[in-house]
Amino acid sequence: MIEQIAKAIIGCNRCVVLTGAGISAESGVPTFRGKEGLWGKFKAEELATMDAFVANPDIVWEWYSWRRNLMSEVEPNPGHYALAELAKWFDSFVLVTQNVDGLHRTAGSKDILELHGNINRNKCVKCNQPFPEHIEIDPNDIPACPACGGKIRPDVVWFGEMLDAGVINRAFDESARADLFLLVGTSAIVYPAAQLPVEAKHAGATLVEINPEETPLTFMADFHVGEPSGQFLPRLLQALEAAVH
Ligand code: APR
Repeated sequence: MIEQIAKAIIGCNRCVVLTGAGISAESGVPTFRGKEGLWGKFKAEELATMDAFVANPDIVWEWYSWRRNLMSEVEPNPGHYALAELAKWFDSFVLVTQNVDGLHRTAGSKDILELHGNINRNKCVKCNQPFPEHIEIDPNDIPACPACGGKIRPDVVWFGEMLDAGVINRAFDESARADLFLLVGTSAIVYPAAQLPVEAKHAGATLVEINPEETPLTFMADFHVGEPSGQFLPRLLQALEAAVH
């Protein structure tokens, strides 16, 4: 199958990739669903919603501080690096991610759309003013916004919140113009992200899904690769090299 995928890729000019927590699993970042997923241990409604932050900002910040520390200790894996390399094979390569861990940027990817924000960024809960990033937030002494006095929150998208219009509109635009769409490490059940591969497929793109598990979108994929992305993506790069030499 890898030779077939490499052949299918070589004719493509515009590639869009959508990644989810699965691409960071081999780096040691827990996924959300599945056996060891975060939502099996923690209640999303008590930690990743505006209501939860209004009710218990300290508990929400404790959880995000724990996740920040965890993410500060991990490195990109071969899957992240392979995607950074893969960009060279296309005229246009846009990496859309649901992940807030920043590992794609650390791995050297350039044109990244962070749909759900970034865990290292902060902003005011009231006026959305950005607040210095990469700073330790004490859950029991949450800083106030210098502009309006509102509490500082992590700059991530919580359940029930709108995504940044500029980011999601560009993701849809690029997906509708793609001739190749790679769907990597996502359960493909959270919207609007999961609509992107559907848009691309309807516009005629080749859809390749890389996930050890099947998802609700597997039926529409031209290729489903049931392997960990950190193992498959570097081999795909080798297959591309072999196919052109
Ligand atoms: N390589 C590829 N895929 C993997 C790997 C791996 N090594 N390990 C796990 N997976 C797959 C799982 O089979 C699963 O389908 O990654 C997927 C992870 O799914 P989720 O945990 O649901 O994560 P994601 O799809 O990113 O969640 C979407 O939901 O909780 C919210 O905002 C959060 O961005 C997140 C969104």
